[in-house]
Amino acid sequence: MKAIVQHEDKLVVEEVAAPEISSGEVLVKVHAAGVNRADLLQSKGHYPVPAGASPILGLECAGVIEDPGDTGRSRGERVACLLTGGGYAEYVAVPEGQLLPIPEGFSFIEAASIVEVACTVWSNIGMLAGLEKGDTFLVHGGAGGIGTFAIQMGKSLGATVAVTAGSAEKLETCRQLGADILINYRKEDFAEVLRNRADVILDIIGAKYLPQNVKALAPDGHMVTIGLQGGVKGELNLGLLLAKRGTISATALRGRDVADKARIVASTVDNIWPLLENSQIRTQIDRTLPLRDAGGALRALEEGTVTGKIVLEVLGE
Ligand SMILES: NC(=O)c1ccc[n+]([C@@H]2O[C@H](COP(=O)([O-])OP(=O)(O)OC[C@H]3O[C@@H](n4cnc5c(N)ncnc54)[C@H](OP(=O)(O)O)[C@@H]3O)[C@@H](O)[C@H]2O)c1
Repeated sequence: MKAIVQHEDKLVVEEVAAPEISSGEVLVKVHAAGVNRADLLQSKGHYPVPAGASPILGLECAGVIEDPGDTGRSRGERVACLLTGGGYAEYVAVPEGQLLPIPEGFSFIEAASIVEVACTVWSNIGMLAGLEKGDTFLVHGGAGGIGTFAIQMGKSLGATVAVTAGSAEKLETCRQLGADILINYRKEDFAEVLRNRADVILDIIGAKYLPQNVKALAPDGHMVTIGLQGGVKGELNLGLLLAKRGTISATALRGRDVADKARIVASTVDNIWPLLENSQIRTQIDRTLPLRDAGGALRALEEGTVTGKIVLEVLGE
């Protein structure tokens, strides 16, 4: 099969052996693969591949079941897939619990753009932090892949959504998606704007924002860190956190085991798929590129020129 292979800092399409499926897995013929910041980190050597996972980039895709193995699924079934790796390729092996139905009316490209963000944001903000109607929800990086989804999910749950972004154009996109409080992080201190008001924070920055996030947190608030773009070691004022009865969680989806991923996938389909099918949440696709332009896709993420998601078209490559 054709797949993206890395040679030093270049990503090229090459012929490689197709994956073999194990018990409980299906072989999927990939039509489209979503691009994530984790792919960029992995290609730069900053994200070790979990044990047993494909070394090929790609954490989500959509396509058709080519070989159902012993799962009882049907050949030809259209599926979206949460992957631990391997999406930038013509075929990928997927544990059955990581298959999602394609939302009604969605193309393969749209489906491939939504799996990783939906499972990440729902598992952290819905299942873990328990965002509720009337809460104030702070989304860092509101115009990113995660952020554009999180804004819409927050609004559909009845929250007041505050966002940070790095330009007026990106903040305008956030406003159009429903964000209520717009903060340009290059010009304003979000902790001053939101002091003691954020019931739930979705943090993708880590160390650099730790003191400000704790300041912004409301009493009984819950901050969930899922990204470390601003470093891993910061100073935490436990006194302030204690006085607010605050909670800080930190999670990563990719390293969870198959059963845990299946639990998250099932809850995401139950809770989020209806919101996609009734258009309360819409996909936010910045551009689609052919598989051979995977390197260009990652460069665009690195340069910060992307609003929402990039999707690679794999079929026909
Ligand atoms: N733990 C997990 O399971 C998990 C799963 C998926 C993603 N993630 C992480 O979540 C993060 C976002 O992923 P993504 O796919 O949405 O990436 P993305 O589309 O590349 O978005 C990155 C975002 O970071 C924002 N940003 C950069 N510096 C910032 C700052 N100082 N303050 C506020 N925002 C800032 C950017 O905002 P501007 O463009 O406006 O500057 C951009 O919106 C990444 O760190 C990724 O690794 C974690």
